[in-house]
Amino acid sequence: LEAELAEWLKAPAARLFNAGYAANVGVMTTLARRGDVVFSDALNHASVIDGCRLSRAEVTVYPHLDVDALERGLAACAARRKLVVTESLFSMDGDTADVVAIAEVCRRHGAALIVDEAHAVGAVGPQGRGLCAEAGVTPDVLIGTCGKALGSFGAFVATTTAIAELLWNRARSFVFSTALPAGVVAATRAAIEIVRGRDGDALRAKLVENARAVRAVVRSCGGAPDGAIAPIVVGDDARVMAMSARLLEQGVFVQGIRPPTVPEGTSRLRVSVSAVHEVGQVRRAAAAIAEVVAR
Ligand SMILES: Cc1ncc(COP(=O)(O)O)c(C=O)c1O
Repeated sequence: LEAELAEWLKAPAARLFNAGYAANVGVMTTLARRGDVVFSDALNHASVIDGCRLSRAEVTVYPHLDVDALERGLAACAARRKLVVTESLFSMDGDTADVVAIAEVCRRHGAALIVDEAHAVGAVGPQGRGLCAEAGVTPDVLIGTCGKALGSFGAFVATTTAIAELLWNRARSFVFSTALPAGVVAATRAAIEIVRGRDGDALRAKLVENARAVRAVVRSCGGAPDGAIAPIVVGDDARVMAMSARLLEQGVFVQGIRPPTVPEGTSRLRVSVSAVHEVGQVRRAAAAIAEVVAR
């Protein structure tokens, strides 16, 4: 699977982890240490945050998607080793980082770039290789998960041979955890075959179609216009959960998301569109969501 991942993602090497959480903790703790400075987007996933904390590096959190702020921080930083870590397609907001601009800023300031593509791999880009591939950017480290678009379990790091070997030897979440079972690995291999081929292209086209169809009806959906993550920020925790329950009564499952997953006061319905939803299902779901939002 590691060899297939590397070949699919056009990376020199890939390392398989048991979950995205383990991959992010393993990458951050292996590549960053005391004396280094990590620049981390304010809305990065908890596993990135925990990895940063465990690394003992100094962490500078920059405002969400703010490349200018990131550049100012990097320019003012005298540390020998600087690392920038961001998601590409953000999990709870569905918006995207400008990976081209971030890669350029990293190049100018000698920083390593780590991109978590958990929500983009499979769903976005040529052969489903993610947002960096779509943008023509090769980060130093790309993290993807097998439990989202691939419908399996586990995660991977696509990177240089040297970093892949370093992770094999040093990433504690890799070394001290039993490997994934063969059946799970086989499921991921089968999923990659679908995702990278013609069926994958058709599924991604359908995903975009469904995402647009929902947004055409539910105008308050956020996120990238074509993206599968279409959150509706409501604010109040109890109201969001009541809306989610009301939708479920109608057979429409829209997860309510509260702190600590999202910042206080930004509780939301996280509408998550699938490529296998039929037109009728999408219409019915969108109408139900619009009705609950308008109440
Ligand atoms: C951006 C991001 N990275 C990493 C993870 C963790 O992946 P896993 O569920 O495989 O541990 C998630 C969510 O689960 C995520 O949304």
